[in-house]
Amino acid sequence: MKYKSIYAIAAMCCLASVQTMAQKTLGEATKGKFLFGTAVNMQQVNGINAAESAIIASEFSAIVPENDMKPQPIHPTEDKFNWDNADKIVAFAEKNKQILTGHCLIWHSQVPNWFFVDAEGKPATPEVLKERMRKHIYAVVGRYKGKIKGWDVVNEAFEDNGTYRNSKFYKILGKDFIKYAFQFAHEADPNAELYYNDYNVETPAKCDAIVQLVKELKAAGLRIDAVGSQSHMHMINPTVEAAETSFKKLKAAGVHILITEWDISILPSPYEGANISTSMAYTKEMDPYRDGVPADVQQKWNKRMLDMFGLFLKYDDVIDRVTVWGVTDNGTWLNGFPIRGRMDYPMLFDRNNKRKPIVDEMIKLTKKYKTIKKK
Ligand code: XIL
Repeated sequence: MKYKSIYAIAAMCCLASVQTMAQKTLGEATKGKFLFGTAVNMQQVNGINAAESAIIASEFSAIVPENDMKPQPIHPTEDKFNWDNADKIVAFAEKNKQILTGHCLIWHSQVPNWFFVDAEGKPATPEVLKERMRKHIYAVVGRYKGKIKGWDVVNEAFEDNGTYRNSKFYKILGKDFIKYAFQFAHEADPNAELYYNDYNVETPAKCDAIVQLVKELKAAGLRIDAVGSQSHMHMINPTVEAAETSFKKLKAAGVHILITEWDISILPSPYEGANISTSMAYTKEMDPYRDGVPADVQQKWNKRMLDMFGLFLKYDDVIDRVTVWGVTDNGTWLNGFPIRGRMDYPMLFDRNNKRKPIVDEMIKLTKKYKTIKKK
């Protein structure tokens, strides 16, 4: 009898620990290794999408606005700022005790044209554009001083071949627009971390250009804490090896790394970049999984997720945050990019807001890696 009850207690304990493990979130499992975050939108923050709102509150240790702090929504005309949404996101992060980062201050997309023209519609002078950048950055960073851990100061300044993108910022100010942005952001909040963010960082020429930029910023005495690797991935590219090579190069350059916009598209990929102005025609062949994902394809996606996540864990001495770009397959931007109207499956939660089995696999994987002390 005595033994039986001991067995019963042991069985109960075992069940309890299995349950705790299953209930654990990636935000909890990655504690001490890196933050685990997601991008958020206003339907979630306002609770209109209550299911996703609840998932965000419980599963993630960090958030970043998917759109609401970008120049276009926050500063649509020279004398008008829309603070409402961004303020609500700050309150949402505070309520959920999550680390908040800002995205993004200077970018060639989702930026209003008033930045770049004078009253007659002619190109703004370098002085005018520089002053507008200063005012924009001072206002946005200044308002959230002390509430935002760090900022994507400049987003996507390079082409994949490592040359500077011929953006309006570049055309008017040359490559120094990047230095100005980092200088102004630091002046506006000396305690905020500052990041350079880009897609296809795994492409060698682009990675080398970013490393060169990091060196130039440091040589100029400017603060840069980390490089954000967006990590919008596909079924084959980038390879784990290519991603690892980029991590090694960045680590050697003396910056930390953030995985800022992670998703792995399961669909055929006619374009493997993330420049949001790219748009391609819809064909049925490019949208093959409307009735569900075949088991073998799903398995390949699962393996790819685990391989990449394992790599992130391996580099947790320099990776400070891993952020997925969305919550459920229903809400992912990839359903509309680079082809509108497809059905993609890149997220950790499915179209019924159910956590995918891969999350438990990822949680298990966190235990295989010893947490390395941050430098
Ligand atoms: C995307 C958002 O997810 C979409 O909702 C929006 O329509 C376009 O921008 N690189 C970035 C992100 O840095 O800001 C982009 O986000 C995706 C590519």
